[in-house]
Amino acid sequence: SDLDLRRAAALIREVPDFPEPGVLFRDISPMLADGAGLRAVVSALGRDCEFDVVAGVEARGFLVGAAVAQAFGTGVIGLRKPGKLPVVADRVDYELEYGRATLELPADTLRSGQRVLIVDDVLATGGTLGAACRLVRQAGAEVAAAAVVLELTALEGRDKLMGEEVRALLQA
Ligand code: PRP
Ligand code: HPA
Repeated sequence: SDLDLRRAAALIREVPDFPEPGVLFRDISPMLADGAGLRAVVSALGRDCEFDVVAGVEARGFLVGAAVAQAFGTGVIGLRKPGKLPVVADRVDYELEYGRATLELPADTLRSGQRVLIVDDVLATGGTLGAACRLVRQAGAEVAAAAVVLELTALEGRDKLMGEEVRALLQA
């Protein structure tokens, strides 16, 4: 419920100057460590959405994504940073604020036609979720929604996800 989510939101810690000076980092670890907090987040992320499988983005998207999958009775796929997977089905390179990054889809996981709920903790510039959406589409699967716990609205990441259903439980 809204009340449960507001209580959960109060457990997010704001850390100034991490990972570099001038950045206010939102740490959702205390929220996920709280049983009621995790339950509120998980049920809100998967509610009123039809999906066949969850794709969680490394690393904090793994925690939330696996919990959502278990709660809604689907499997889970981990979209990974490069060099971690023994067999890679596909990869997408994308721009970061500074430099580039890559996400990889493990082999023999996602099937063509599946409806995928993409899950991550935070939507910042949108590069990461944009890459996740491309991986899903390139596999012939469908993005049911890109769902995050927290959207940092000032970074306008949503604009990079035009045409996708973006679900953010909380905004800052
Ligand atoms: C953070 C966060 C998202 C991404 C959002 O992950 O968990 O995955 O950045 O940023 P974007 O919208 O600008 O792409 P991070 O790179 O810190 O990796 P980690 O979860 O492995 O620590
Ligand atoms: N918290 C977690 N992940 C992030 C953040 C943040 O504030 N900014 C970019 N990625």
